[in-house]
Amino acid sequence: MRLDRLLANSGTGTRSSVRSLIASGGVTVNGVTAKDPGMQVKETDVIICGGTEIGHKENLYFLFDKPDCVLTAMEDPRLPCVGNYIPDELRGKKLAPVGRLDYHTTGLLIITNDGELSHRLQSPKYHIAKRYLVTFEGKEWSEKEIGEVKEGVTLTDMDKPVKTAPALLSVTGSNTAEITLFEGKTHEVRRIFAHFGKEVTALRRISLADLEIEKTPENTGAIRELTEDEIKSLKSEVRL
Ligand code: URA
Repeated sequence: MRLDRLLANSGTGTRSSVRSLIASGGVTVNGVTAKDPGMQVKETDVIICGGTEIGHKENLYFLFDKPDCVLTAMEDPRLPCVGNYIPDELRGKKLAPVGRLDYHTTGLLIITNDGELSHRLQSPKYHIAKRYLVTFEGKEWSEKEIGEVKEGVTLTDMDKPVKTAPALLSVTGSNTAEITLFEGKTHEVRRIFAHFGKEVTALRRISLADLEIEKTPENTGAIRELTEDEIKSLKSEVRL
C-alpha cells in the first residue's frame, strides 16, 4: 500500500496533510526518513510519525449468506440485522457490509473493514458483475423486453428518471430468471422487473465478481472468512 494512503487510513490526517508531513521529514519507515508519499509499504515495515508508531490496520473480509428478513445494517434497535451474525470478538473492528441487499433479498454479501475495497466494489466505474436468481409474478419475458434490459432501461418510478446500465437477463422458467447487473442502483432488480409489469416475489444474489454461493442453500446465515486467493482476486477486479 502507498505510504500516504496508509497514514490517511490510520487517521493521521488527510491525504494532503500527510503528504506535507512526509515532505517536512516527519515520517520514518524502518528508521529512514521517508521522502516519497507514494512509496510502497508492507505490513512488516515500522512506520513512525511524530514519534508514534503507526499500526497497520488489520483488514478482515467475510462472505455472508444473508437470510430473508435481515436488515443490511450492523445495528438495529428493532429488527434482526447483519451485525447479529458477526462473532462477538470482532465487534469494534469497524466491519461493514459492502453495499446493501433489501430486507427480503437473500444471498451473497461481503462484509469488510477495508474501506477502499468496499468503495470500489460499489462504484459503477469498475462494472462488478452481480448475479441474482429471481422468482416473479407476471407475464413471461418477451425477446423484445430482454433486449431492452440488455440496452438499459429508463426507470421513471422515483423522483427523477434514471437509466440503468446494460444488464444480462436469462429466462430459466415461466416465472424464474437470472439477471446480472454491473452497477447497484437502489432496488434495481425489483424496479427493472416492475418496469415490465412483473413483481419480484423472491430474490437471491448468487455471485459477485468471481465469488459464488449456492443457489439453494440448506441454511442461510452462514458466514466465513474469504481466502487469500479470493481477496486477491476481488482486489484485482478493482485494480487494488
Ligand atoms: N436489487 C434489488 O431490487 N434488491 C436487492 O436487494 C438487490 C438488488
